Amino acid sequence: MRVAKAPTVSDGAIVVADNGMHSWRSLNRFHCDSFVRGTATTMNGGGSVTKIVSIHSFRGGTGKSNTSANLAAQVAATGKRVAVIDTDIQSPGVHVLYGFHDDTPSPALNDYLWGKCEISDTAHDVTRSVNGAAVAESSLSLVPSSVKPSDIARILREGYDVEALNEGFRSLSNDLQLDMLVIDTHPGLNEETLLSITISDTLILLMRPDKQDYQGTAVTVDIARRLAVPELLILVNKVPSGADRATLVADIEHIYAAEVAGVLPLSEDVAVNASAGLFSVTQPDHPWSQEIRKVAARLDV
Ligand SMILES: Nc1ncnc2c1ncn2[C@@H]1O[C@H](COP(=O)(O)OP(=O)(O)O)[C@@H](O)[C@H]1O
Ligand SMILES: [Mg+2]
Repeated sequence: MRVAKAPTVSDGAIVVADNGMHSWRSLNRFHCDSFVRGTATTMNGGGSVTKIVSIHSFRGGTGKSNTSANLAAQVAATGKRVAVIDTDIQSPGVHVLYGFHDDTPSPALNDYLWGKCEISDTAHDVTRSVNGAAVAESSLSLVPSSVKPSDIARILREGYDVEALNEGFRSLSNDLQLDMLVIDTHPGLNEETLLSITISDTLILLMRPDKQDYQGTAVTVDIARRLAVPELLILVNKVPSGADRATLVADIEHIYAAEVAGVLPLSEDVAVNASAGLFSVTQPDHPWSQEIRKVAARLDV
């Protein structure tokens, strides 16, 4: 079992989010002092392993929440036990994809981090959102972050124990006997994204074919390599219809020396869906959905 002891701000981990050479020195301390790596997998309560997949991007609005929610649903649709956890505590959103349009279900991840409940109490069953695609054994759970302004303000004001988040990942995998835990992250680099990158079996870096994303992705790829993430995949989203897909893939794989697991089209249909539901479930034949299923199969859970 892997053991990741979470950093504290004094480790300098948070400095990584800023920039420059000092960041790299801080990162080395972060890595060496704060984490003990075990094997690349986490045992679940059923005696098998939970694959931890983090979906991350350096910049916001890249499609992390849509991708997390849809990938998780497609893996669950193959009969696996999957949970999605929203670690974007400052700007939560993945719950909306599962139909919680007015509020987040309670209790939320915040309640666990404040010691009010167990992490398993915050896991809400959203298997119904996979519709008829689900087979009997499948299960899909959501651990939301609270959208209540007072809860977000409290997290920003008081922070929380990142070690508890790490322990929460492990307990959740164990309690729900998960095959896969999908971590939807906050853009950029902060303590919880560094933690999720470090404990991931697979890190999916989402990027758009945009010069700003290219630069930010380079920073994150470098960090992922220093943290020795076992599998690093790049997913390109919002690719215009006129783009030469083969050239794009070849360029990105050359630049980052990492596999491009999928190329998702920029789609007006996805935009019109406006995160109101799981597009890959409601529009299964759409090219965006087909590519999501391809990536889900690539994850090989
Ligand atoms: N391939 C796509 N084509 C068009 N719009 C997209 C696509 N992927 C995501 N979007 C839209 O982009 C916005 C941001 O997506 P979201 O998943 O919330 O990103 P993030 O979690 O990275 O901030 C949403 O309005 C979503 O509907
Ligand atoms: Mg998001």
